[in-house]
Amino acid sequence: MITKLAISGYRSLRDIHLNLEQVNIVTGANGSGKSSLFKALKLLTEVSRGQLFSSLAKEGGFPSTLWAGPENFSRAMRIGEEAIQGTRRKGPVALKLGFASESYSYLIDLGLPTPSDSAFGHDPEIKQEIVWHGEVFRPSTIIAKRTGKLVSLKNSETNSWTNTHTELASFDSMMTHGTDPQLAPELLILRDEMREWRFYDHFRTDENAAARQGQIGTRTPILSPDGYDLAAAIQTIREIGDRDSLSAAIEDAFPGASLSVEISEGRFYLYMRQYGLLRKLSAKELSDGTLRYILLVAALLSPRPPKFLVLNEPETSLHQDLLAPLARLIARASEESQILVVSHSDLLIDYLTTEIGCQLIRLEKDLSETEIPLENQSRWTWPKR
Ligand SMILES: Nc1ncnc2c1ncn2[C@@H]1O[C@H](COP(=O)(O)OP(=O)(O)OP(=O)(O)O)[C@@H](O)[C@H]1O
Ligand SMILES: [Mg+2]
Repeated sequence: MITKLAISGYRSLRDIHLNLEQVNIVTGANGSGKSSLFKALKLLTEVSRGQLFSSLAKEGGFPSTLWAGPENFSRAMRIGEEAIQGTRRKGPVALKLGFASESYSYLIDLGLPTPSDSAFGHDPEIKQEIVWHGEVFRPSTIIAKRTGKLVSLKNSETNSWTNTHTELASFDSMMTHGTDPQLAPELLILRDEMREWRFYDHFRTDENAAARQGQIGTRTPILSPDGYDLAAAIQTIREIGDRDSLSAAIEDAFPGASLSVEISEGRFYLYMRQYGLLRKLSAKELSDGTLRYILLVAALLSPRPPKFLVLNEPETSLHQDLLAPLARLIARASEESQILVVSHSDLLIDYLTTEIGCQLIRLEKDLSETEIPLENQSRWTWPKR
């Protein structure tokens, strides 16, 4: 289980250290930093997939993702006695992401590039990466360390350090290009775990949405992030997953309704029989909210549940009657996965906090900086470069 999350220098998240529990719900006003938190978590997975730099570029590039305020706010700035202004920096410009878990923990520190005449001279550089054992970061718990181009791995039996790479490119992570199955199998274990974190953001449900079309079906234990393989994912749950929970989740939201999947020339088509109608409706005919709920059912009843599942505003376009069934689905999924839900819905928050006692994290903003309540904060120290 991931127990702590730390983000520094990323958009409005100037410096936050968060405690995570089995189920977490993040809320806050518009602009308080919820999507930034979601994206920062996603960047961590991108590191393990070797896609950190392309993801940063898609977000508008490294400079745009960096915290745009001063390095620190003085007390006078906070109480309005002094104008907000940049002061002489004490530390380097940095975007830092990290998490701690009961098994292994990881952090990455990105900084400004060293001047060069390369056409890619604006790309950031990975300055530092550290993997340590257990939650607590101490020199003695470190098992792998990257400083600039140098990667050193610790042999747990002999307690000695070996430099495995001396010329690691500034854009390659130690997690993808600096591993060694013999010297540090832990890195591979951690990398594979990070790769399996699963994220669902807004599903498209407009009339051209892929989830409404027939698709060539293959066994689909994991619904894709855009939900295009919905019919195959539903059929997979029916064949190898929790079929009863699938029927129950549909019945819970739409009494008397049931799903079916039909196959024509290898293409899978989803249908829903609804109480009171003489024929079943195809995915093309379902309402946006109905389709989105079915997508969430397929995501949450995955026959291959992830260790960590992150949902961004799952309540979008759902009527309030569907929020209790959604909360029950999340509760069921939380038996196998650690979950973080970003939500605007007071009702969903209410169901989740009362029914499964999840941790509620209310983001606030002060001087454009995201702040988290004291009770959600964890201890965290960023190592110096
Ligand atoms: N580089 C940056 N530095 C500082 N703040 C930034 C930066 N980029 C964006 N922001 C601001 O960060 C804030 C948080 O944005 P975010 O998208 O995370 O909000 P949100 O909580 O998801 O809001 P909503 O509910 O409207 O979706 C916004 O006010 C945004 O303008
Ligand atoms: Mg948002």
